[in-house]
Amino acid sequence: MTVSPPSTASTASTGPSAGLAAPPSEPSAPSSEPSAPSSEPSAPSCEPSAPRAGTAAPTGRPDIVDLYLKHIGSGRAVMGRVMGGMAEVRSEGVWIHADDGRRFLDFGGYGVFIMGHRHPAVVEAVHRQIDTHPLASRVLLEPVAARAAQALAAHTPPGLDYVHFVNSGAEATEAALKLARAHGLTSVITTRSGFHGKTLGALSVTANTTYQTPFQPLLPDVTQVAYDDPADLEQALAAHRDRACVIVEPVQGEGGVRIPRPGYLGQVRALCRTYGALLVVDEIQTGMGRLGTWWGVDAEDVRPDVLLVGKGLSGGVVPVAAMVATAEAYAPFSRDPYLHTSTFGASPIACAAALATVRAMEEEDTVARAAALGPRILTAVRDVCAPYQGGLVREVRGRGLLIGIEFAEEQAVGELMLELISRGVLVNNSLNSTRVLRLTPPAVVEDSALDLFLTTLGAALRGTADRMTG
Ligand SMILES: Cc1ncc(COP(=O)(O)O)c(C=O)c1O
Repeated sequence: MTVSPPSTASTASTGPSAGLAAPPSEPSAPSSEPSAPSSEPSAPSCEPSAPRAGTAAPTGRPDIVDLYLKHIGSGRAVMGRVMGGMAEVRSEGVWIHADDGRRFLDFGGYGVFIMGHRHPAVVEAVHRQIDTHPLASRVLLEPVAARAAQALAAHTPPGLDYVHFVNSGAEATEAALKLARAHGLTSVITTRSGFHGKTLGALSVTANTTYQTPFQPLLPDVTQVAYDDPADLEQALAAHRDRACVIVEPVQGEGGVRIPRPGYLGQVRALCRTYGALLVVDEIQTGMGRLGTWWGVDAEDVRPDVLLVGKGLSGGVVPVAAMVATAEAYAPFSRDPYLHTSTFGASPIACAAALATVRAMEEEDTVARAAALGPRILTAVRDVCAPYQGGLVREVRGRGLLIGIEFAEEQAVGELMLELISRGVLVNNSLNSTRVLRLTPPAVVEDSALDLFLTTLGAALRGTADRMTG
């Protein structure tokens, strides 16, 4: 199977008994797999109890599946059921708990949980904000937004001092595209396999026809160039001199953890200068320490005009994202505070989360931790995958805590995800690269949980190889 949502609702009508993990009431079979570390919270781990999701007995939560079917959507309902039908209700650190007592080691989360789930300092700050002033009038000044902007700008590349807070990554992309328009830059150059969100503007620069086609026409004058190919970019820039905005990721996350050659970002920067283009670097997935540096651009000492931030900025607690820009780039938004607004943008509660996250990262040296942990995990994952290298597995690559396992066949991604879920580990597929499974572990993961992950990955790979060959 692939992990994309089913395209029709027909399977939903078979009811939640079709192809599901064990019901919560069914005791798990004993297994030789390691159990969760004893220092962790007492909830029983799901490894290795559940039969493989998607193949075994009826689901744990048919009632929730049914509500999804009736009120959220059949595709999501069927997908949840295929994944085992579990309902997640609690989280802390690297763990997500289901309502049947199983728990899952979260090495996915679409890259959000660099600080784990519900970082205590962020939770405390958000509680305090709720008890005082969660949402603002938007007429008076908001001190939390001002302090959060200051804290974030203290870590962005020099000169990127102006922060426009929003509630999602796609909104940060929208803000950047509109900022470019405000400068009269009406063309956008994006990269193949690039991912920048799914709102209409962001979707126009997210290079995936599956998501784009149903919504055409999108923004006009968008050019896709090859990633990691300065010559292709130069050709596009030459055709759009003084009227383009370039949007690029330091490492393509949804594009399958594609790491460009050293020097690429620097070349992009130089080309944008030469051809009068605004450079927007999308660090929504790669920023906040994910690559072992605060930002992917730090590795090459590149200063974009605009930097997009999201995911990790939440501290795993409150959705918040931001567009950060130089004074020159930001000038149109600076002059007119009503040019691009949103009722809930820069809310005190979201900014309290962002502020507490940045401070916690400083105190815990999260970036250094990610830098040290990333290569260790990458090496260990490579070792676990080594027996399958050249067969099932094509390549294991990564930077910091963004790691991709590329398979020879697309089917392996879905199979391995299900094998991992049934053993209590959550990971992600890659939306723009269907043969790549993505790992985005938190920087707070301890050795015991890491060992558990690696042992589980080994067992899941064996299960996947057996299924695909047998
Ligand atoms: C690089 C990048 N940009 C933008 C987005 C969109 O962010 P959101 O899903 O918060 O809208 C994502 C989400 O995965 C992303 O990885």
